[in-house]
Amino acid sequence: MLDAHGREIDYIRISLIDRCNLRCVYCMPEEGFTLTAREELLTYGEIEKICRMMADMGLKKIKLTGGEPLVRRNLSELVRRLKKIPGIEKVTLTTNAVLLAQHMEELSEAGIDSINISLDTLDRKLYQEITRRDRILDVKKGLQAALRHPEISLKINCVPMGLPGQDLVEIAQLAQNNKLHVRFIEMMPIGYGKNFRFTGEAEIIEKLEQKFGKAEIFTGRLGNGPCHYYDFEGFQGKIGFISAISHKFCDKCNRVRLTSQGFLKTCLQYNIGNDLKKPLRAGASEEELKNLIADTIAAKPIGHRFLESDIADENNLNMSQIGG
Ligand code: GTP
Ligand code: 5AD
Ligand code: SF4
Repeated sequence: MLDAHGREIDYIRISLIDRCNLRCVYCMPEEGFTLTAREELLTYGEIEKICRMMADMGLKKIKLTGGEPLVRRNLSELVRRLKKIPGIEKVTLTTNAVLLAQHMEELSEAGIDSINISLDTLDRKLYQEITRRDRILDVKKGLQAALRHPEISLKINCVPMGLPGQDLVEIAQLAQNNKLHVRFIEMMPIGYGKNFRFTGEAEIIEKLEQKFGKAEIFTGRLGNGPCHYYDFEGFQGKIGFISAISHKFCDKCNRVRLTSQGFLKTCLQYNIGNDLKKPLRAGASEEELKNLIADTIAAKPIGHRFLESDIADENNLNMSQIGG
C-alpha cells in the first residue's frame, strides 16, 4: 500500500470504542459529549474482514486503541482473531491499564505482542486531577500484572503537561528499575490538547541528563510507531520521545487509522479518508472495498500542520475518538 508521496503503509491504528473509563483533561470533557451508539461501532467481524483485506494488500501491524479499548467486551477474542490473519506480524494494544490486571492473562493467551500504558504521573492526587478519576491503584495493579509477562513488550506513555508535581524523573525511573520503556509524548494541539502548555523534548532530556548522566542515542528500531529512543547507563529499558512538534516525523509515516465507526482516516490531523462501514454493510464486493482502501491511502496528506494552522483538527474530533 503506497501513498502518493511514496510512503509504504503497513500499520493500522484501530479505535475500538470512543468510550473511556477516564476523562483526561487533554483528551475528553467531563461531560456533555455524544458517544457512538453500539450499533454504529464496527463489529469484531467487520474489523477482522477489513484487516484481512488490508493484510492481502500489505498490512503487517495492528494497534488497538480507544477511547479505552478494554472497555469493549471480549477484547482478547478480537486479538486472537487478528493474530490468525496471514501476513499480520504484530497486534499491539494501547490502554490506560485501569482494567488491565483482570484481562492480562487472556490477552497473553490470545497472543498480544506489545502493550503501551498511558500514565502521566505516579502521584495519586495529580493522577486524579489529570484523569478526573481516582484509579491509579488499579493502573499500578495493571502495570504489575503486565510486568509478570516479560514476553510481551511493555511501554509507558507519558504526556508532560508542565504541571507542578508532575515528576518526569520519577516516571523515567520506571525504565531504570523495570523491564519496560518510558516514552514522553509532546502534547499535540488536537481537541482539548490545544488548551495545554507543550513541553518539548530538549527541555526533558536536559532534565533527565542532569539526574542520570549523558543519554546515548539508540539507533535500532523498537516498535512500529514514530518514537525515537535513548539509552541511559544502568537503565533496564529505554527512554523514548514522540515529538510530533519539535521533530516532525510525517515523512516516515507508515500508518492509517480506522475510527470506531469505520472511517478510514489517513492522517491524525485531517478529516481526509473514507467511510468503509457503509459499503461493507451494503454488501460491497471485496474488490470494490480493496479499491476504495487503495484510493483512500493514495490520497494520504503529506503531513500535519500543527504549527502553521490555527485549526489543528479540521473535524474537531477528540483524541478519544481518533485513537491517538
Ligand atoms: P509502538 O511504538 O509500536 O508501541 O506504537 P505507537 O507509538 O504508534 O503507539 P501508541 O498508541 O502508544 O502512540 C503513542 C503516541 O504516538 C500517541 O500520542 C499517538 O497519538 C502518537 N502517534 C502515533 N502515530 C502518530 C502519527 O502518525 N502522528 C502523530 N502526530 N502522532 C502519532
Ligand atoms: N497529544 C499527545 N498525546 C496525546 N494523547 C492523548 N491526547 C494527546 C495529545 N493531545 C496520548 C495519550 C495516550 C496516547 C494514545 O495518546 O496519553 O498515551
Ligand atoms: Fe481515556 Fe486515553 Fe483519553 Fe485519557 S487519554 S481520557 S485514558 S482515551
